[in-house]
Amino acid sequence: MNYKELFIGTDLYINTSDQKKTERIYLDSAASNLALRSSQEISQEYLNYYANAHTKVHAAAKFTTELIVWAENTIKNFLGADDTYSVVFLGNGVTFPLNRLALGLSKLRPEKDTVMISSMEHHSNDLPHRVNHEKVMYISGFDEKGDYIGFDLAEIEQQLESSNGKVNYVAITGASNVSGEISPYHEIAKLAHQYDAYIIVDGAQLVAHASVSLVNKEDPLSSVDFFVFSGHKIYTPGSPGVLIGKKEILAQMEPIFYGGGMVSSVTLKDFTVAEHLSDKEHAGTLNIPGIISLGCTINFMQHVEMEKVYAKEQHLINYLYAELSQIPEVILYPNANITNKVGVICLNLQNIPHELTSLILNDYFGIAVRNECFCSHPFVKDCLVEELWDIEDESAVNLYRGMVRVSLGLYTTEKDLEFFVQSIKKIIGNIDFYRMQYELIDKTNYKHKDFDNDLKDYFDIEKKIKNYYEKSYSS
Ligand SMILES: Cc1ncc(COP(=O)(O)O)c(C=O)c1O
Repeated sequence: MNYKELFIGTDLYINTSDQKKTERIYLDSAASNLALRSSQEISQEYLNYYANAHTKVHAAAKFTTELIVWAENTIKNFLGADDTYSVVFLGNGVTFPLNRLALGLSKLRPEKDTVMISSMEHHSNDLPHRVNHEKVMYISGFDEKGDYIGFDLAEIEQQLESSNGKVNYVAITGASNVSGEISPYHEIAKLAHQYDAYIIVDGAQLVAHASVSLVNKEDPLSSVDFFVFSGHKIYTPGSPGVLIGKKEILAQMEPIFYGGGMVSSVTLKDFTVAEHLSDKEHAGTLNIPGIISLGCTINFMQHVEMEKVYAKEQHLINYLYAELSQIPEVILYPNANITNKVGVICLNLQNIPHELTSLILNDYFGIAVRNECFCSHPFVKDCLVEELWDIEDESAVNLYRGMVRVSLGLYTTEKDLEFFVQSIKKIIGNIDFYRMQYELIDKTNYKHKDFDNDLKDYFDIEKKIKNYYEKSYSS
């Protein structure tokens, strides 16, 4: 199947510094992946029947309510969650559900004042837990020598044991946005439950890349209590953040947002919070088109089958890893060949700042990657520690505090990765030329001396609006 055609933006041509239009290669899917065209089109079509939910009296409102329930059930089914789970839509990405859980669970079990997280988390799966609990226990992904080991189950168990039942929950990533490693979240769930702690899995980097099953029927202790993800990381920009959680726990949590829709009765003196979880958690009007387009994407992914998605990505990421590890000037992070991972690789080119590499990739080759620390400062720092010590010119250290991240989506092809590898080789071979084209504009940021991409050359938003206005005015 030609997956590229199914997504919006895979045929984008951008200007490169040689004044040519170059096909853009999108390797920044871990930040946000590109939009699945069918979901956007179908949800656009749904707008013909758009109305607010919260009533079934008129036809469009009834249709909308039905579609929201359909999206909830589609998500549950996709994630192997049964009727003991409920789906909550919150904010724009995974950060909102994580904050909701941190606040709600800390109030629910104040006697358990400790959380366990790993030092490999995105800040969104660290800071909300930190600020809502007295104490944080960190699981390190590195051994005493500083070598990467990933999640060490023995260390987790030992820490849980030493906490004397004080750990409220363990919050871990499903797959890392730096190493790409898929965590053994079922095993960690089992350990957490043995010590009366809940488990939260941050599925932001997992959900679009591998199949997930929250329930483990054979071993219920290893089932997951809470799973969160962002629609924009599963091909659906404009959709909300999603929380799938155990009903029995959600039901005990106080709401954090108050207003219309989440109450069953209100007087000037009092109010009663709605019993139905979906009402209780959803104050105000939902992002209805976003929920419907997310339901469409998830349903589409079920047709594609996640096992096939995973297998395709394994082939590509193994190919990329093998190619890059043959280039002596490429440093790969963390320093370990991870076998169970999603399509993410972080790297640096020896003695070339990450920002410069990323700019050259964009400006000369039309390749979009992300650089810096990917909102995972502690993890990136742990990976870089030795190299930073080796830099003799102290004033240059800031330039090397980060990495380049290449991340894949369903639309990524081997040809894209071949081109990436060739481009990396060209950068290494011609680095003196490239360096001369850029100037440092502050301590860490470079700028091309005579090239930049101008948004208006691509997308003049006000001109488009004016065109629409003039067309409707003249008709
Ligand atoms: C593992 C992980 N968790 C959380 C987040 C935050 O996601 P969002 O921006 O959708 O809230 C990200 C974003 O990159 C991530 O990769």
